[in-house]
Amino acid sequence: MAKKITTQFICTSCGYASSKWLGRCPDCSTWSAFEEQRKAPASQHKTTRSFFRENTSVDPVPLDEVVRDPAIRWKIGMSELDSVLGEGVAEGAFILLGGEPGIGKSTLLLQVAYLSARQGKRVLYITAEESASQIKARAERLNCLTPDILLFPENDLDAIFEYLDMNVPDLIIVDSIQTVFCQEIQSAPGTVSQVRESALRFLEFSKNLQVPVFLIGHVTKEGVVAGPRVLEHIVDTVLYFEGDKDSQIRILRAVKNRFGTTNEVGIFEMTGEGLQELQDLSFFSHPEKNHLEPGCAFVPTLEGTRVIVVEVQALTTFNGGFSFPKRMASGIDQKRLSLIVAVLEKYLKVQLTQYDIYLNVVGGLKVIEPFVDLACAYAIWSSHYNVTLPHRAAFMGEIALTGGLRSPTQLTKRLNELKKMGFQEVYLSKTSPEVEKDNTGLQLHSFGKLSECLENLLQYR
Ligand code: TYD
Ligand code: MG
Repeated sequence: MAKKITTQFICTSCGYASSKWLGRCPDCSTWSAFEEQRKAPASQHKTTRSFFRENTSVDPVPLDEVVRDPAIRWKIGMSELDSVLGEGVAEGAFILLGGEPGIGKSTLLLQVAYLSARQGKRVLYITAEESASQIKARAERLNCLTPDILLFPENDLDAIFEYLDMNVPDLIIVDSIQTVFCQEIQSAPGTVSQVRESALRFLEFSKNLQVPVFLIGHVTKEGVVAGPRVLEHIVDTVLYFEGDKDSQIRILRAVKNRFGTTNEVGIFEMTGEGLQELQDLSFFSHPEKNHLEPGCAFVPTLEGTRVIVVEVQALTTFNGGFSFPKRMASGIDQKRLSLIVAVLEKYLKVQLTQYDIYLNVVGGLKVIEPFVDLACAYAIWSSHYNVTLPHRAAFMGEIALTGGLRSPTQLTKRLNELKKMGFQEVYLSKTSPEVEKDNTGLQLHSFGKLSECLENLLQYR
């Protein structure tokens, strides 16, 4: 009897499988993301067996009697990365490094390969995207040339595992998971089923032999490339490498970490000799110039356990009132910008409907926390009225829909950093009891509402 060929429809965004085509994914709500793919033959699903034990049967154990085996870790020697991973890389860790093309993923992992090789680790760098000579050229540029990194220019999964069956390295780097492919699966490299199958095979290897594996995964701005979202469920750790292409600053952020916290970020600078760890965070703001320019405000943001004082810049321009007003935010969520503008219009009667508004965080940092609101509101207001502040001032506070201000968390830590950087005044919410206890010597101006805060600043208009 002829073998029945079965097909299924896979969401290219999250990997959800359905027997029929769907317009909208019920799992991740993405529209028009379903692609028809042949079902992988049953034999390929062998990788779904347990990775956590050899093929011996184990009985259930009472939870309190489970013997914990401490994760063995080693430090790569790049403190920004080690702290993001959680005190180094754990043996058997399965790590995804995602980021837009060209952001520096291959550069970072080649440096990781070199630092690990220098500690005597056998590193296998699988390059399925660039040729061996391209990697060599990068290694020369990074001064990372060493015979201890084994370069494997291969994208066929069977060939890769044929090698790995005979040779077990201490660290594997796969550059990238979207370009390796499994011949038995009909679909093209980079599709969800290819990416999932490849990742599962590396996962099995990693867990059975306790070898850490780094996978590189590309994501575009729209997040449309198949893979990374599917991979997020499979891997132990998801790192995202982000930054503005025009800026040299790169931020490494853990969004999932089974071996550590997701509270830490690594900050790097892309130089001619690769990625350097950035210790001096004053790059993001220069308080001495802030009284000179309208439309700029400073805010201490918490990134992981560190405070980074960033500069927010705003520009409002009259658009003649004939077109729909532009609202463009970079480094800050566009929705927050809309909210701030709405609050300015409603409670301060600032007429912005005929103005385009551009908002930018200097240095390419993406600020997620809402305590940046007050600085954004001030920057927009100050650009609109062409107002400048006379002193080295910073702003912090979340703006509520009612126009009220909420205090940031860890206020003392933020104030200490501002003091260290030479700020003199801080505008903030009065709701925090920490305001009373402050002993930094900074001049604190606390307000309950955004309108009170900005009206107080009208004296500089
Ligand atoms: P790359 O690591 O190839 O990015 P990805 O793997 O994420 O696609 O890095 C790409 C960019 O980094 C490229 O535009 C050149 C730049 N770069 C430097 O500025 N300095 C360096 O030392 C290296 C190796 C790359
Ligand atoms: Mg690359």
